Formats: sequence, structure tokens, C-alpha cells
Amino acid sequence: MENYKKFKIITYGCQMNVHESEKIAGILSELNYVMTEDEKQADIIVFNTCCIRENAEDRAFGNVGALKKLKKANKNLIIAVGGCMTQQKGFAKSFHESYPFVDIIFGTHNLDNFKLLLQKKLSSKKTIIEVLEKEGSICETTNKLRSSYPNAWVNISYGCNNFCSYCIVPYVRGRERSRKEVDIINECKSLIEDGYKEITLLGQNVNSYGNDLEGVTFASLIKKISQIEGDFRLSFMTNHPKDFNEELIKALAKSDKISKRVHLPVQAGSNRILKLMNRKYTREDYLSKVNLLRKYIPDIAITTDIMVGFPTETEEDFMDTFNLVKEVGFSGAFTFVYSRRKGTPAAEMDGQIPEDVSKNRIMALIDYQNEFNREESKKYLNKTVEILCEGYDDKKKMYLGRDTYGRMAYFSSDKELIGRFVDVKIIKTGGISLLGEVVKVK
Ligand code: SAH
Ligand code: SF4
Ligand code: F3S
Repeated sequence: MENYKKFKIITYGCQMNVHESEKIAGILSELNYVMTEDEKQADIIVFNTCCIRENAEDRAFGNVGALKKLKKANKNLIIAVGGCMTQQKGFAKSFHESYPFVDIIFGTHNLDNFKLLLQKKLSSKKTIIEVLEKEGSICETTNKLRSSYPNAWVNISYGCNNFCSYCIVPYVRGRERSRKEVDIINECKSLIEDGYKEITLLGQNVNSYGNDLEGVTFASLIKKISQIEGDFRLSFMTNHPKDFNEELIKALAKSDKISKRVHLPVQAGSNRILKLMNRKYTREDYLSKVNLLRKYIPDIAITTDIMVGFPTETEEDFMDTFNLVKEVGFSGAFTFVYSRRKGTPAAEMDGQIPEDVSKNRIMALIDYQNEFNREESKKYLNKTVEILCEGYDDKKKMYLGRDTYGRMAYFSSDKELIGRFVDVKIIKTGGISLLGEVVKVK
């Protein structure tokens, strides 16, 4: 093992990026590199960055900067920086000027070419900068070194066409491209044969899957995947309320393989703000989709993303959001303070909201949602639920996993349980997570 070169990948951002790091890891494995957690041992360190909010960028800048010392100590260390942050227009040049010790700068569009970039670097002293302006065709041949067993991420589409006015993603991920249905289904089949127990389909807007293909929709795709034989859960993210329709809801209701949780980002509850955000639905549209979903699947768990402090957001607008959160009763909510992203229409809008106002608003939401989660957790007491065991928490010395609604539970066992479906009786409820005892290993 000692002769092998070692790599470390540091990932920021969403599941899409987590999965893309699995592709970079796959490429490096093919070149006979092995993974290490220890930066000091690494021969190559790759940053897979995010730029969705300013703080995501700041973290990446800080961590890249901190490596300067390591680079001085080990002249052969290769540092590569890629992902959404570097894909921003004009970014690579100024980044190179500020961080000249970074060896490879690449974007989101040429990740599958990473092998070539690394080989170029190994035979050159110069920094290799390659950020393509345009997205290429979908590459199906990149191997993945997966590290999320028993879950496996599967891309169904890349890019985004929605141009929500606050969002940088369409600029750094390009236009929406759907993978061919046959490629997706074959990948899912082989993952299930390999023993993966949860498949999570990925797209910025999974509901518009197939708009650029003939004769397929997201609903028809998940119908086919859920018919694959085997014991697995099917999940997907993210949904867009404007494209979330009855055909899909019916497909969700029909299969018991599909997990009973839907992530349906609402962003805001004020129609005026939703319009400024270019979300293309109203508060009423959103609520009626929630009602339809609950009509077909009464116990469905709905989670969401909410943003506060969008330009011109008044107290009244915020209360519309707050009241919508109360009305829906989300099983979980990711809350964000609006962050101004250069190049997006919202960054140019008048009426940017002061930070302290946004902070107060987000705190009110978080407090409400935490209390709601605590109350919901209590309903689990003394119930037995089926958990997919996902991992082991070394600190707590307990296994952890989630039920079909996405609720996390911890439990002890002296058996090896990762990747097994386990019936767990809940004996204690706290905040979001639950504590239980194993009743049966399936
Ligand atoms: N395509 C997905 C995910 C987008 S990023 C979707 O549409 O849901 C995840 C979340 O980050 C978004 O839902 C939004 O709530 C938040 N986000 C995006 N841009 C942001 C910005 N400029 N400031 C703050 N939060 C942002
Ligand atoms: Fe961004 Fe909107 Fe696309 Fe989501 S749907 S990635 S929020 S532009
Ligand atoms: Fe994801 Fe961040 Fe890019 S959220 S798509 S890694 S900007």
C-alpha cells in the first residue's frame, strides 16, 4: 500500500457535488491513487467547490489558503480546485493570481476530463487552467468510487433552465441535459445487484427530467426504476413546485419502494416575492400541490428550502412565509439567508435587506421549526419503525439510519448492520433524531 500515491478530496455544496467527488475519486483510483483522510499524507488534494452562497465560497477560500504551508513543505504536492466556484465567469484568472500555488483549476463542465488535466500537470511546471465556457455532451464512461453505501447517488439530469433570480446554478452548471433512460436504469440495476439499498436520483429539478428527450417523463422513469427487482428504497431530489404534477404524485403513490418523503422547496410564501424570485408558482399553487400530495399519500413527509431576506422582503412578506410554514407543517426545513450572487438579476435589485433583519427572520423560522420537529418526534415514542442502517457513529458508539420518512434514529447492536433494514422500537425522542432498540434485523 505504501507505494501507492494518495489523494484527498474536500467537497462543499450539494449532493450533486458529493457525487461528482465520487467521480473524481473514481478517476484517481484508475490512476492507482488511494484515498486518505490525512492531508499531510496526500500527494494530491482536490477541492470540489460551491458558490451557492457567499459563506460557501469563503470557506473554500480559507481552506485553500491554509494549504500554502503544506505545499511549501512538500514541493510535489498537487492542489486542484474545481467545481461551481471556479466555473464562474472570469473567476479562474483572478483566483490564479491570488493563489498561484494551486496547480490545477478546472470547472464543472470538464470534470470527466480530470485524468487528462492531471497528466498534463504531471509533465508541466505550469498551472493548468481549464474552465470550459460551454457544457459538453453527457459522459457515461467515468467510473465512480462510491463512498455513501448503502445509498447510491444517480444523476438523472445536469444543469438547470429555471433561472430563479437569486440563483447562480444556471450560470455555473449550464443548460439542463437529461441522461438517457436506458443508461439510468442500467446503472440502477447494477447498483441494486451490487447490494445498494437506497438509490437517490439527482437533478437540480428532477421533475423536468426528459423535457429534452422523446417520450419519457420523470413519472415514467421512476415507475420503471421502482419495478426493478430487489429490496431497495428509491429517493430523489430536488423537486420544483411548478413541475410537480398529478401524474407524478400518482406514480409516487403506486410504489412501496419509493420513500415517503418529498423535498419540495417553497423558498417564500409571499406571492410578490415569489414573482420577483421568478419561481413561476404562487403560494396558492404550492398549497394546492401539497394538498393533492396528501390526498394521494396522507402520511407523506414534506421537507422544504426557505429563503429569507430576498431584496425588498417586508415584514408582511416574511409573515406570509412564516404562516405558510405553519400551515403546511414541514417535516424539515432548510433555511437560508439570501446571499447576493454576482451576475444574477436579484443582485442588481434595489432594496437589499440588512443582515440583522434577515438574521431575526431566520431565527424565528428556525425556532418554530425546531419546536415543531420536537412535537412530531414525540409521536414516534413506543412505535416500531423500519430503519435502513446507514452508518456507525463512533462518538455515540451507536448505529444510525433513517425510516422511509427520512427521520433519523440511533440504536445499538453488536452485529454488523450497515446496509440492513432493521425494525427499531423507539424508546426516546429528543430533537430531530430518535433513540431506539433493535427488534428485528431483516
Ligand atoms: N435546484 C435545487 C437546489 C438549489 S440550491 C432547487 O431549486 O431546489 C439549494 C437551495 O439553496 C435553494 O433551494 C435555495 O433555498 C438556496 N439558495 C439558492 N441560491 C441562494 C442564494 N443566492 N442565497 C441564499 N440561498 C440560496
Ligand atoms: Fe437554482 Fe432555481 Fe435552478 Fe434550483 S431551480 S438550481 S434554485 S435556478
Ligand atoms: Fe451544488 Fe453549490 Fe454548485 S449547491 S450545484 S455545488 S453552487
